Amino acid sequence: MRKKIGLIGGGNIGATLAHLILQRNLGDVVLVDIAEGVTQGKALDLYQAAAIDDLNGHIVGTQDYSALKGADAVVVTAGVPRKPGMSRDDLLQINSQIIKEIGQQIRQHCPKAFVVVVTNPLDAMVWLMQKSSGLPTHQVVGMAGILDSGRFRHFLAVALGVAVQDVKTFVLGGHGDNMVALPRHTTVAGIPLQTWIDQGKLSSQQLDDMIKRTQNGGAEIVNLMKTGSAYYAPASAALQMVEAYLFDEKRILPCAAFLNGEYGVKDIYAGVPVMIGAGGAEKVIELDLNAVEKQQFEASVSSVQKLVDDLKALGF
Ligand code: APR
Repeated sequence: MRKKIGLIGGGNIGATLAHLILQRNLGDVVLVDIAEGVTQGKALDLYQAAAIDDLNGHIVGTQDYSALKGADAVVVTAGVPRKPGMSRDDLLQINSQIIKEIGQQIRQHCPKAFVVVVTNPLDAMVWLMQKSSGLPTHQVVGMAGILDSGRFRHFLAVALGVAVQDVKTFVLGGHGDNMVALPRHTTVAGIPLQTWIDQGKLSSQQLDDMIKRTQNGGAEIVNLMKTGSAYYAPASAALQMVEAYLFDEKRILPCAAFLNGEYGVKDIYAGVPVMIGAGGAEKVIELDLNAVEKQQFEASVSSVQKLVDDLKALGF
């Protein structure tokens, strides 16, 4: 039986995901958007791309949420992206109403789906999605850490002149300016990053600059593009999570997961390493954090808590 993957939001990230899913023949795609005709047009364009690529996938573009019936996985990108000068948090009011409505639609049409939220401000939106959909917490996760880690990995690989596949790292905490990069938990070809620094292959100043650039990674792209935000890397990151679920891979990926006491945090979503398999977010992996890392993680989580408190004050 072919898998069914729902994409809510057919803009830059949603359409890129649709193309990737068809290219990899992962399943059939339902692309839902509020904008009339856009997803129908993109579906037709993608069908024609599939014809040229000799692929046989199916894709439906619609405004009707009932088309999501029975979806195995859903990626939510609906909402408004940032403009230059805006922080992700500036999107809170506008995107929260959208996410709440979509949560209710998911509850009605595909309550068994694994749900990956991409809409910003990420950690607060995934909290709201879980609450408004009523789905179990292990079935609702947010995409941020893979993206942030991907950015850090790219900068490190370029600076060290090594293949990016050999750079492993985790960026944790909230998907905001104070996200937490963990050089101590970073390896290059299995060798701790500190060894490369000790050997003079990377300076501490370069490392600090790369961490700042990673924290500012989304804004750097928004400032260049001016009319939208990053979408190729966010789409690849969300797809990695969907694949881990559909193929029961048990991959350990940095994702926004519900914390129930892990890392000393309760009742909130934040970026941590999570095992993703057929059970969704099956397990939170606790890295040992030293005092400084712990403090950075707590500061990042308290920014998320503030946004969730704002949502509660708005009546969500
Ligand atoms: N229901 C369905 N779709 C909606 C709704 C809604 N209520 N409101 C907006 N949309 C759709 C828009 O019509 C648009 O097609 O969401 C889509 C968003 O696409 P883009 O504007 O291209 O944004 P994108 O780059 O895909 O980013 C989406 O992800 O990374 C985050 O900050 C980013 O929150 C933003 C989201």
